[in-house]
Amino acid sequence: MRHFLTLLDVSADETRHILKRAKKIKHKLKEGKAHRPLEGKTLGMIFDKASTRTRVSFETGMFQLGGHALFLHSGTTQLGRGEPIEDSARVLSSMVDGIMIRTFGHDILQKFAEYSKVPVINGLTDLTHPCQILADVFTYEEHRGCIEGKTVAWIGDGNNMAHSWVNGAVSLGYKLKLACPEGYRPDEKLLAAACDLGADVSITDDPNDAADAADLVTTDAWASMGQEEEQAQREVAFANFQVDDRVMAFANADALFMHCLPAHRGEEVSASVIDGPQSVVWDEAENRLHAQKALLEFFLRD
Ligand code: CP
Ligand code: NVA
Repeated sequence: MRHFLTLLDVSADETRHILKRAKKIKHKLKEGKAHRPLEGKTLGMIFDKASTRTRVSFETGMFQLGGHALFLHSGTTQLGRGEPIEDSARVLSSMVDGIMIRTFGHDILQKFAEYSKVPVINGLTDLTHPCQILADVFTYEEHRGCIEGKTVAWIGDGNNMAHSWVNGAVSLGYKLKLACPEGYRPDEKLLAAACDLGADVSITDDPNDAADAADLVTTDAWASMGQEEEQAQREVAFANFQVDDRVMAFANADALFMHCLPAHRGEEVSASVIDGPQSVVWDEAENRLHAQKALLEFFLRD
């Protein structure tokens, strides 16, 4: 049984295959041609956190692929009332063909996968957000061609998105430069593991250094879901980490700007950048649909 808990669960060749399929599947949809390889299949979608893009892209994606998606919010299932994860995994996976989970601890996702009889897909945990990176790389390549050998600058929190950019550097071959304040750096073990597997990753505390000669500049909220109470403290820690026009000026002239969204203009990014000509955030959001359809096809097709 294979799961998609992090980008390290698929090889470089498989990642390339999924991205290639995403392009074909997107073209088919734009041409109005049906593509229904998942007829009769159901995806259970467990959400312990809020979502707009992830829910809509998985649900719409399953429908377009000929299948069905089931929205399961923890507040209205027995999971939310303390039914053990092991029992929930056994029961749900006896009825559906795949399960997507958005939750807090990565250990919850891992435990669910351990007891699931069907593929489990990570729809975001506190540790990683691999589906977003598939969409982001797909978007970069639509605009600028192959990302291998290009430089990606991550500016801000060493969070789940940063971790997935780190993991993606293993199979996709881009150079990653992270700028994070002291105390908000990525998980050291995850970073060391990716570097051992060949990822080219460096860390600085200077956003300009990270952005220097970058082909893609990206960031995320200063306070992620579950960290709302740290907002004020984080605003102080990240005060010099806004991606604004001055930071973008260090990047290559044709550099793109990305953000997984939701964004906070005036915090991690200035309105001039996210709403400016280098920003591809709306394509990036739409591409969640196409990239995840390729992922669903890969994991759920017979
Ligand atoms: N980027 C992302 O995962 O968005 P949602 O939280 O809206 O799903
Ligand atoms: N880092 C953010 C990503 C949201 C899509 C969070 O976890 O809230």
